[in-house]
Amino acid sequence: MIEHAGFVLWFTGLSGAGKTTVARAVEVELRRRGLRVERLDGDTVRQRLTKDLGFTKEDRDTNIERVTFVAQLLSRNNVVVLGAFISPYRETRDYVRQEVTNFIEVYVDAPIEVCIDRDVKGLYQKAIAGEIPNFTGISDPYEPPEFPDVHLRTDQETIDDSVMKVLKWLEQRGLVPVESHA
Ligand code: ADX
Repeated sequence: MIEHAGFVLWFTGLSGAGKTTVARAVEVELRRRGLRVERLDGDTVRQRLTKDLGFTKEDRDTNIERVTFVAQLLSRNNVVVLGAFISPYRETRDYVRQEVTNFIEVYVDAPIEVCIDRDVKGLYQKAIAGEIPNFTGISDPYEPPEFPDVHLRTDQETIDDSVMKVLKWLEQRGLVPVESHA
């Protein structure tokens, strides 16, 4: 373990854009470099901390508010938090930024057509058929970040490219120890 500051890498984007995949890979790399890391992911958090919530705007906001509280406690105690949530509302993401230590917005961007094509969980097919109400990108809004700190294009980059983009950004701000990428 090394001495380091806490920060919150906040991965936002459509379902199937690659938030979990990239966050997991970044987690591995940060741990390898000796940082303390916790990853909070919509898919798992919603089975525990926010089990009672659905996908109305109000419920999504409550989901993010609870997670923000956890991220606040961890980040102020020098733990790195990787948050992977659709978090479709700009204002709600701005709230997270205000509440936690060193918030970094990572936009995990892939066109909706690509996400529909991937349909990793088979949810888009159901949403398009009208079987899932309030589905982000289909029957519910997604407000893309206007000025993300890091902008990933998972339809154009490899996972490694995306991970390196995040790591480079962190290195440049002195948040993680620099390594040569030979
Ligand atoms: S958020 O909007 O509140 O940030 P979160 O990231 O926690 O969403 O959860 C999103 C995950 O819930 C998706 O990856 C998907 O697996 C599942 N899900 C189920 N119903 C919906 C829906 N109506 N809209 C979006 N995602 C949904």
